[in-house]
Amino acid sequence: MRVAIVGATGAVGHELLKVLETSSLDFSELQLYASPRSAGSTLEFRGQPLTVQATPDGALPADLVLASAGGSISKEKAPRWVEGGAVVIDNSSAFRYDDDVPLVVPEVNGEAALGHKGIIANPNCTTAIAVVAVAPIHRKYGVKRMIVSTYQATSGAGQKGMDELLTETHKVLHGQDAGHHEFVHPIPFNVIPHIDVFQDNGYTKEEMKVVWETRKIMGDESLQISCTAVRIPTLRTHSEAITLELERPATPEAIRELLATAAGVEVRDDPSAKLYPMPLTASGKYDVEVGRIRQSLVFDGGIELFVAGDQLLKGAALNAVQIAEDLQR
Ligand code: HSE
Repeated sequence: MRVAIVGATGAVGHELLKVLETSSLDFSELQLYASPRSAGSTLEFRGQPLTVQATPDGALPADLVLASAGGSISKEKAPRWVEGGAVVIDNSSAFRYDDDVPLVVPEVNGEAALGHKGIIANPNCTTAIAVVAVAPIHRKYGVKRMIVSTYQATSGAGQKGMDELLTETHKVLHGQDAGHHEFVHPIPFNVIPHIDVFQDNGYTKEEMKVVWETRKIMGDESLQISCTAVRIPTLRTHSEAITLELERPATPEAIRELLATAAGVEVRDDPSAKLYPMPLTASGKYDVEVGRIRQSLVFDGGIELFVAGDQLLKGAALNAVQIAEDLQR
């Protein structure tokens, strides 16, 4: 199998290379593509330098394309890669809501990708991280309503977002004013309740993605979901506070036991030992940390929890590679 990464020089592209180094995916060739500006540079894979090529306009000589170059490139080029015979796992939102495109988190609805030819969509990071924890609860107790507050890292805006956090923080620490380019306001020592564009209903598109995508992945259009998405000055892990109203009452102990054996989850929940999910401990991890599991004071028999998942891994590169591994099984 010939694998191509499109967007190889970006933050997700780098993580794709790292995840592929140790994945069980069996491939004979790895091609790296990026913008013409990055063509000719090299990236290391399993100790060997690989040269980055400019993404061509037409088909790619690949059987599997892992695309993380942004929505406009995917929209324009992915149909041509498919015409050329490739399966495309696309990290952008360009095709996520198309009826004939599966939107997949392997731990939740992996079967939706099996045997699929064409485009398979990787979800928005915030959604992927939430559903790994919420889907097992939905299966057993039936989620009726889900309220999410997010604490999203700068990596959601790519390498440039992470760089902006570091350079602008440095400026503030040296007595200068912080500027901003990737974010709508300066990010150092700030929280910004504004990610992506506002919709007519007062929610942002980032918040609506959590609504639309959670319903599609969990296969339940009746789920009532509300989300407030907030950018915070951390590097690469998204955290989320989640409140669930359930069809059937659950206890925190039962949820802890359920999630202890759930794929992709690490229960980290011992307040007496100051143990709970945090970007500090979740960054670089494949599993999503889940903790602060408690009975809701608002919904009878409802549950509240806190999750932290690496945005570049389960929120992007890892999820894509897991989909590819499942396709090959
Ligand atoms: N939209 C997300 C964010 C990243 O801005 O944090 C994309 O998965």
